[in-house]
Amino acid sequence: MSSRAALRLLRSTAARTAVRSTTQKRAFAALANAATRPVSKAAAVPMMTRGVKTIDFAGTKEVVHERADWPREKLLDYFKNDTLALIGYGSQGYGQGLNLRDNGLNVIIGVRKDGASWKAAQEDGWVPGENLFDVDTAIQKGTIVMNLLSDAAQSETWSHIKPLITKGKTLYFSHGFSPVFKDLTKVETPSDVDVILVAPKGSGRTVRSLFKEGRGINSSYAVWQDVTGKAEERAIALAVAVGSGYVYQTTFEKEVRSDLYGERGCLMGGIHGMFLAQYEVLRERGHSPSEAFNETVEEATQSLYPLIGKYGMDYMYDACSTTARRGALDWSPKFKAALKPVFNELYDAVVDGSETKRSLEFNSQPDYREKFEKELQEIRDLEIWRVGKEVRKLRPENN
Ligand SMILES: NC(=O)c1ccc[n+]([C@@H]2O[C@H](COP(=O)([O-])OP(=O)(O)OC[C@H]3O[C@@H](n4cnc5c(N)ncnc54)[C@H](OP(=O)(O)O)[C@@H]3O)[C@@H](O)[C@H]2O)c1
Repeated sequence: MSSRAALRLLRSTAARTAVRSTTQKRAFAALANAATRPVSKAAAVPMMTRGVKTIDFAGTKEVVHERADWPREKLLDYFKNDTLALIGYGSQGYGQGLNLRDNGLNVIIGVRKDGASWKAAQEDGWVPGENLFDVDTAIQKGTIVMNLLSDAAQSETWSHIKPLITKGKTLYFSHGFSPVFKDLTKVETPSDVDVILVAPKGSGRTVRSLFKEGRGINSSYAVWQDVTGKAEERAIALAVAVGSGYVYQTTFEKEVRSDLYGERGCLMGGIHGMFLAQYEVLRERGHSPSEAFNETVEEATQSLYPLIGKYGMDYMYDACSTTARRGALDWSPKFKAALKPVFNELYDAVVDGSETKRSLEFNSQPDYREKFEKELQEIRDLEIWRVGKEVRKLRPENN
């Protein structure tokens, strides 16, 4: 972006921030007033029903539950007779487990004794024989079994674990992967237990850090099997207990499809592919590494994408030069047309189980960590990311 464009962006950002601040104040006043007057049909404020919100997402009404419905005292009372056995202590086990513990619930961890997780759990203050056990013992002690093993491990261990999940227990997942693709994973859930899902929309590290900041991560919840009639309520309560702020309703199928699709697409795979393609063309056309990196990654992540995240796509367009804006608006439909067939191919590969099969085959190999590390090293060694390392050092905050 030219310095003129950058200056314009700054001015425009400052102006919009001022406008937004007024708009936000107005929105706050509208919400406060809404409590004392009837809500009109067209009003954009959320409608409250016993603390549950029905929110109009661009014309589609959805039910959203919030943390405020489940204060800590209510959670403690609701789970007073439960032992939450959290199996696996990877990213989610860490985040959800520590949040449950800080919420004062009776939570225990189950991991294999010779694995890295046993050591990690001890470092986080879980005590062997008190609230840290091997997997079998933890499941036997638990009334709610939270299966947070890696998806491949859930499949590998299922034949052993299944008989331990006896009538009366609740089975909990954070991904629809194992039950939805049961033909491949062999995870056929017992017919006499509630089976529920809470899927935080982020890494377990974020589940933990947001909780510590007094905020909550967005999560989705779903019910696979309801034998007690209480499965949905329990899923929502657990979502809050593990550290969610807002909890969105979904199904196991929709959760697993959108999740596998999203991470392969815009969230990770797609965006990496797009960065590489743009960078390579710039380099092949004679641009220097720093110029190619700055115009592909640095400006995107440091300047423009945060604007999309904070205020939306229209704001980002509005904040850029007329030249940048015109070209981007013209080229966007071409990229969409070129990419949509790839996204459809990807969605089909998710639905037909090819992506699940690939993931199970790769992640079940005993040396999968070494193989994955080799792939990460290949990424680190790419020119674009080596250049990125140097560019990051030159950021104002690193000087
Ligand atoms: N990570 C995320 O951002 C995220 C977000 C939302 C939902 N989820 C879902 O949450 C669940 C857990 O994911 P995660 O990323 O937290 O976990 P992960 O890192 O994929 O899995 C780690 C756990 O699995 C255990 N494990 C692996 N192989 C095992 C085996 N053969 N026997 C026993 N234990 C084994 C590991 O123990 P050892 O240390 O002993 O190997 C470790 O405790 C998954 O269903 C995932 O899809 C993850």
